[in-house]
Amino acid sequence: MLSEENLKKVEKLKPRFQTTQALTLPVLWMIQQQHGWISSEAMLYVAQLLNVPVSHVYGVVTFYTMYNQKPVGKYHLQVCTNVSCMLNGGEELRDHVCERLGVKLGETTSDSRFTVTEVECLGSCGTAPMMQVNDDYFENISLEQVDELLEKLS
Ligand code: FES
Repeated sequence: MLSEENLKKVEKLKPRFQTTQALTLPVLWMIQQQHGWISSEAMLYVAQLLNVPVSHVYGVVTFYTMYNQKPVGKYHLQVCTNVSCMLNGGEELRDHVCERLGVKLGETTSDSRFTVTEVECLGSCGTAPMMQVNDDYFENISLEQVDELLEKLS
C-alpha cells in the first residue's frame, strides 16, 4: 500500500520517535498522498505496519479532518465554520459554496471535480473567514472571490 520510497521514509523516521505509535500521523499522511483517502484496508495496513491496534489508527483517522475517509474530488474544499470563521461569515461561505456547486456537505460534484466539507479550526482564525482548497489556504475570502475561484477551477 505504501510505495518503496515511502517505506524507506518510514524506516528513516523510526529512530526519531520513541514508539511506532507516534508514526501513525505521518504514515497515514503518506497513504493519503498516495491514494487520496484512507480506506478501512489502509487503516488495517497501517496498524500492521506499525504494530499498533487498529482502533488507535481508526481513532486518529476519525479525529483529524485532514484525513479523508472517502474519496474526494480533484479539488477538496474545506470550509471552516469554527468560532472566528463563523463570526465572520463562515456559515454563509459554506452554504454559498454548496449552493453554487449543487452539492450537500460531504458530497462530490457529478464530474468528480469538487468535494465540499465543513471543518473545525484550521489555525487561520486571524484571517477569517477562510477555506482550504487542497493544500492552499484562501483567507479573508468574500463570496465574490469564491465565485471567481470556483470559476477558475471549473
Ligand atoms: S476559526 Fe476558522 S481558522 Fe480558526
